[in-house]
Amino acid sequence: MEYIFSLEFIYLIASITYIVGLKMLGHPETARRGNLIAAAGMTIAIFGTLFLYQGEVSTKIYVLIAIAIVIGTIVGWLIAKKVDMTKMPELVSLFNGMGGASAALIGLIEFHHNVGNPLHIATIVAGMVIGSVSFAGSMIALGKLNGTFKKPIRLPKYNLLNNLVLIGIIVFGVFITMSGTSSQLFLYLLFFSALAYGILLVIPIGGADMPVVISLLNSFTGLAAAFAGFLYGNMVMLTGGILVGSAGTILTFAMCTAMNRSLSNVIFGAFGSSGGDDAEGHEITGSITKASVSDVAILMNYSQRVIIVPGYGLAVAQAQHVIHELEQLLDSKGIDVKYAIHPVAGRMPGHMNVLLAETNVEYDKLAEMEDVNPEFASTDVVFVVGANDVVNPAAHNDPSSPIYGMPILEVENAKHIIVNKRSMKPGYAGIENELFYNQKTSMLFGDAKDVLTKLVSELKSM
Ligand code: TAP
Repeated sequence: MEYIFSLEFIYLIASITYIVGLKMLGHPETARRGNLIAAAGMTIAIFGTLFLYQGEVSTKIYVLIAIAIVIGTIVGWLIAKKVDMTKMPELVSLFNGMGGASAALIGLIEFHHNVGNPLHIATIVAGMVIGSVSFAGSMIALGKLNGTFKKPIRLPKYNLLNNLVLIGIIVFGVFITMSGTSSQLFLYLLFFSALAYGILLVIPIGGADMPVVISLLNSFTGLAAAFAGFLYGNMVMLTGGILVGSAGTILTFAMCTAMNRSLSNVIFGAFGSSGGDDAEGHEITGSITKASVSDVAILMNYSQRVIIVPGYGLAVAQAQHVIHELEQLLDSKGIDVKYAIHPVAGRMPGHMNVLLAETNVEYDKLAEMEDVNPEFASTDVVFVVGANDVVNPAAHNDPSSPIYGMPILEVENAKHIIVNKRSMKPGYAGIENELFYNQKTSMLFGDAKDVLTKLVSELKSM
């Protein structure tokens, strides 16, 4: 019985909830519950620590902790409640930055308590440096996503400069650890150098690559938290940090793989830096065919199978509700309809799943790329809504294209392709799309929400 009310037991329960919660985040159907379970575990860990901690803590400290928890809860709750789905990467970046800052502050505070213990000092220095890089980098990433920093800033020989700063930080960190110094000046110098490195690391990277960068910084924060957990011998902090660190790393590489880009290619900002304004790859010649809403309504009405390909533009237009209405309408007409989901459609992992889940689209209507690709050949109409790069055949056909080798949805195999977007402007990768010039393709220009609303009313009248 005594064990049940011990901190170890509380931490064990909390650690289990993190693992179960993380596992449940792997599927849209269980993700919400998984998040709640992990949050409950975090709450148990916090209150367990407050009430069961055996050491000496003054009332003043308890009051300060209570104030911090109240402020943090209210601010976090309000921001998360208000945020638009398209702004989610910004929120993640902000929260991640706060995690990094916490780890850095722990290092600053604990340093002088641990002078003379090289293992602890090494842990403190590592956690502080990684946390500071993560904090500064996340703040720059946030600024890029919300438009404060519009263009990538590339200092002369920035790669060399960044590497030199990194080497300097490592050497200085090792010196502080090995020398046994108690100099606060050295500590703060290291702290500010790590902040500077975080800024230098992220400023040259294009705004559109920020989701990958944020995921990478997220893994840094996890690592920094794990160091703090090790320092305090706090198992739940250690487990949580390791889980965040490894999940962030796996996500970073999963995003890179889905874009067929290496992490170094992202970090050194090969594309996406312009936000899609300058075209690369070979020039495409040919003419496009335009379709009207009525043309598309007739085509769909007489189809047997329709596959919808949602992309970033669907999120921009906030057209998720009306596309669900279209899907239900086609369904009611006996047409086989589903959504083809590309793993990096949109601007954040699972963007399309989250968007469509908001409107309660049934999960079995969502088909993953590998499963749906063989089905396009037997599909009457593919309806591409606000997607571009994820259906660009240049990924297969044009070795000079920056997206060459990226797995795509092979929509060009369908009998008819309808593409809805507002103009001929490129998407995120900033490259032209030869799909639009395909003889089977018809362009349905306009804002996705407007076009879909008209399409639904046209189809209803048939
Ligand atoms: P994009 O290639 O970015 O294309 C989106 C298209 O939507 C644009 O061409 C745009 O054309 C159109 N659009 C914008 N607003 C619209 C509106 N209101 N109505 C209708 N259309 C609209 O998107 P995608 O195909 O989803 O590909 C995602 C890209 O982001 C990939 O290159 C991927 O590598 C990258 N990326 C993804 C992630 C994750 S994790 N998802 C992370 C980083 C990068 P108009 O301007 O002509 O309308």
